Amino acid sequence: MDTSIIIPEGFPYAGNNLEEIISPDSVQQRVGEIGREISGMYQGKVPIIIGVLNGAFLFMADLVRHLDIQFEVDFIKIDSYGDGTKSSGTVRLLKDISADITDRDVIVVEDIVDTGLSLKFLKHRMEEASPKSLRFATFLYKPDVASTELEIDWTGFSIEDRFVVGYGLDLKQIYRGLPGIYAVNEEGK
Ligand code: IMP
Repeated sequence: MDTSIIIPEGFPYAGNNLEEIISPDSVQQRVGEIGREISGMYQGKVPIIIGVLNGAFLFMADLVRHLDIQFEVDFIKIDSYGDGTKSSGTVRLLKDISADITDRDVIVVEDIVDTGLSLKFLKHRMEEASPKSLRFATFLYKPDVASTELEIDWTGFSIEDRFVVGYGLDLKQIYRGLPGIYAVNEEGK
């Protein structure tokens, strides 16, 4: 258990510590595997890879460096958590994509699928533009929370239903730069 990071005052879970649940090495290894799978599947194609801000920025950046195909990137920014630690139940579009994705091969890259509300919103938004193909990659997936009918093509890791930070994921905007995945250890106070 990593007891070195204590959540500061003024943040949710203040005084609790963070416990490493996925090491930085495992993160990098898994991202490489997904990158190689995507490269194999899109040989000869030029997909548009759409990162979901803010949380997916590190996964996206690492993932594209494992691709040996040509690709374009774009970003969309949505918000379902605000600064809280639970889904608000609604998704707000803060920045739409700029690229024209009609008739294009699209891969949406998400940080984490929790309830799946964001993923459903993104699917609807992308399908409106009639892409040629549409696939989803998420770094983390909480199967106990997500609704079962979600179609996800690549999942980094399935995790239990705990609040996690690191590798792009935040707690009230902090901890996004941690290289592994850490869970709030609520018994560690
Ligand atoms: P969903 O719409 O409930 O699937 O939630 C997706 C969004 O909620 C993610 O893109 C994250 O921004 C945020 N989120 C969900 N679970 C966590 C977590 O454990 N830590 C940090 N952010 C989370």
